[in-house]
Amino acid sequence: MGSLIVDTPVAIGRISDHGAQVLQWQPSGAEPVIWLSSHAVFARDVAIRGGVPICFPWFGAGRSGAMSPAHGFARLVTWPCTATTEQDGTVTVVHVLTQEQAVDPQFPYCYRMTSTASFGDELTLTLLVENTDATPFSFEVALHTYLAVGDASSVSIVGLEGAEYHDKLLDRHVVQAGPVIFDGEVDRVYSSTSDVILRDPALARSVTIAKSGSASTIVWNPWVDKSRAMADFGDEEWRDMVCVETGNVGDRAITLHPGEVHEMKVIVSVSSHRPPS
Ligand code: BG6
Repeated sequence: MGSLIVDTPVAIGRISDHGAQVLQWQPSGAEPVIWLSSHAVFARDVAIRGGVPICFPWFGAGRSGAMSPAHGFARLVTWPCTATTEQDGTVTVVHVLTQEQAVDPQFPYCYRMTSTASFGDELTLTLLVENTDATPFSFEVALHTYLAVGDASSVSIVGLEGAEYHDKLLDRHVVQAGPVIFDGEVDRVYSSTSDVILRDPALARSVTIAKSGSASTIVWNPWVDKSRAMADFGDEEWRDMVCVETGNVGDRAITLHPGEVHEMKVIVSVSSHRPPS
């Protein structure tokens, strides 16, 4: 599987053809913003643990709860790279996936997905899904962003106050009161179109996740026991990451008629709280 490395005065980054998955992004002068597990497995038909997996055409086990593989097939296959451009140190990489590369009897449609990743001062990810079939179809989609943090137990996420979420661990619907904090395993699907800010006191910085075309935000940290249970995840790595995922999942799934296109966009940016040295 091939990957493209970005190394310019503006940013360092890396994107794999496997799943068109961003594996690294670090704007100049900042510490890594995107997290990749030191136990990640790079192999055919295996999901890479970390980076920004693209979940499509279903999320988790899907709306029926019976879909497999988890998070759909798009993150498990090779996406042809169709363009790479550079302007003023920002590198943009385009990958396209259609039914010619990836078919699944659980999603028997013609489609075209275009992933555009721009590595610059900001990380901009755009995902287009086009219905190239003769019949309508519905799909779930997510950019499953793993963010690097100084210590998950001290970060907080603002921007989801008042949003309703499905707590997947308790199978309960709850309204978010105040910022999201992490003091145990968290696995929540928020109904929200809002941008969020991850405050990270240990790294003295804030990471902003601005989005459009998305009505779901998924927040996940496996904490202690689940980290130990995952083979491709270090026992202590739960401290180093939180996932803030941008998507349209569950009852926010998208329906496209023939010829229609849906666009979802995420812009990740970082601001340091340290005085310049
Ligand atoms: C999150 C889900 O998006 O991804 C969690 O909400 C899941 O339920 C996590 O555990 C990781 O999924 P996977 O398939 O990459 O292990």
